Amino acid sequence: MTAGNTSPAESGSAELPREVVSNRLLKGSVKRSYIPVVDIDWEAPLDDDKFFVAPKTLSLYGTELWDRMDRAQRIELSRQEFVNMLSTAIWFENIVNQGLLRHVMHADPRSSETHYSLTELGDETRHMVMFGKAIQKVGAEHVRVPLAQRVVLNTIPFFLRGSGLWLFALLGEDITDELQRQMVDDPDVQPLAQRVLRVHILEEARHISFARDGIRKRVAEMPRWRRAVLANVLGFHGIVNQQAFINPVVYRRVGLPDPKAARRAAKANENFRLVQKRCFAGLAEFFEETGLMGRVSRKIWKKIGYLD
Ligand SMILES: [Fe+2]
Ligand SMILES: [Fe+2]
Repeated sequence: MTAGNTSPAESGSAELPREVVSNRLLKGSVKRSYIPVVDIDWEAPLDDDKFFVAPKTLSLYGTELWDRMDRAQRIELSRQEFVNMLSTAIWFENIVNQGLLRHVMHADPRSSETHYSLTELGDETRHMVMFGKAIQKVGAEHVRVPLAQRVVLNTIPFFLRGSGLWLFALLGEDITDELQRQMVDDPDVQPLAQRVLRVHILEEARHISFARDGIRKRVAEMPRWRRAVLANVLGFHGIVNQQAFINPVVYRRVGLPDPKAARRAAKANENFRLVQKRCFAGLAEFFEETGLMGRVSRKIWKKIGYLD
């Protein structure tokens, strides 16, 4: 886990009751939350010579294809990868919110856990607005999930219950959180993109603490067979995650003649593998600690290069 993820609620949360953790997160939300529509200067002009994410995090950085690109093309790749990530985040947050809303329908409306679930739902709603506005501002088309996949994705919220909801949330949030920390860490990145990423990183730190706490507590009580099943299916998320971040649509939009070859180059790119390994390191540690790193999952994480 990255140091920046750690919030007061995280330290020692395994021993604290869920209500205490939820209460701390609620207080943290009151102290530091953003309304991106007004808290981000959407009128500020973009700098044509700046990247949209740190170049070192781009999927083709350091490849032969990268060497053949001029600066303008590299910046365009960063714009399209930024937009692809935001588009993916929007549908992910949509699913999380549907899951949260279903969760609170069965929960006690007086409990702090319910109140924080609803607060997180509000955060994600604002994030979707922020991402949509950012896509509009950078002047690119959003990346659409193909219809057949959208139909499947729309069924996920029906299955998000208990530990499944917190695991789904954590899988998306934790890996992306670390990626965004790497993306923002470069003076050559557009101030607007930095602002969007920083707002998201700050608010997601609380969501990550909440999901981790929920998982720890539920894993401790669940039957061993259920933990074993979860531990061995989690790895399949890695395949979906990787596919989402090396989308041929991005390479086509940049004007690369063979988008599928570009995807293969990204998949084999050692620089990008290192980025992905760093993104997964905190989550891998958490899975080991909670007994959620099963043999099948470990094999998958290794095969896709997220784990040594
Ligand atoms: Fe979010
Ligand atoms: Fe979140």
